[in-house]
Amino acid sequence: MNDTTGLGDDVQLITLDVNGTCYEVITAPRRTLVDVLRHDLRLTGTHVGCEHGICGACTVLVDGLPVRACLMFAAQAEGARITTVESLADSGTGELSDLQRAFTAHHGLQCGFCTPGFLMLAQGFLAERPEATKEDIREVVAANLCRCTGYQTIVEAIDACATARRSQRAAGAEEDSCN
Ligand code: FES
Ligand code: FES
Repeated sequence: MNDTTGLGDDVQLITLDVNGTCYEVITAPRRTLVDVLRHDLRLTGTHVGCEHGICGACTVLVDGLPVRACLMFAAQAEGARITTVESLADSGTGELSDLQRAFTAHHGLQCGFCTPGFLMLAQGFLAERPEATKEDIREVVAANLCRCTGYQTIVEAIDACATARRSQRAAGAEEDSCN
């Protein structure tokens, strides 16, 4: 029988929930999540650098937690909620998220190759640790590599976003208490 998938005979059908959309993909069992995201689903916002779990360019969220998509088989992500950088901006208007705007405002990127990974790392981290200090943020971003920025601007951007979110929450809580 001719192999029409180009992946060899050893392929399987998997279902992935990516950014709230359900995708069915026929793939080899040992294909990485990042390859399936980029090549099968055409979600090319997730970048590939080292492919060895070192650089973090491929970071996505799996059930809310930052994961190196080059170290995970796509099949392992079945049944999980996968979130990629494409989810951050408003899908209707294209308006950037608060975190993305903070990266722009604080010059948290130069070449931008590392940026999707840092955004998803920060997105997952701030969801878990909304009260994180600048020092906490500095420690977390050390997990990913950036060759351009020297990290300071990335730390400033994430800290500014965290601070703004805290202010918004506090303002919301005050409003609620007035009702
Ligand atoms: S490409 Fe995955 S950690 Fe570098
Ligand atoms: S902005 Fe170039 S590697 Fe980070």
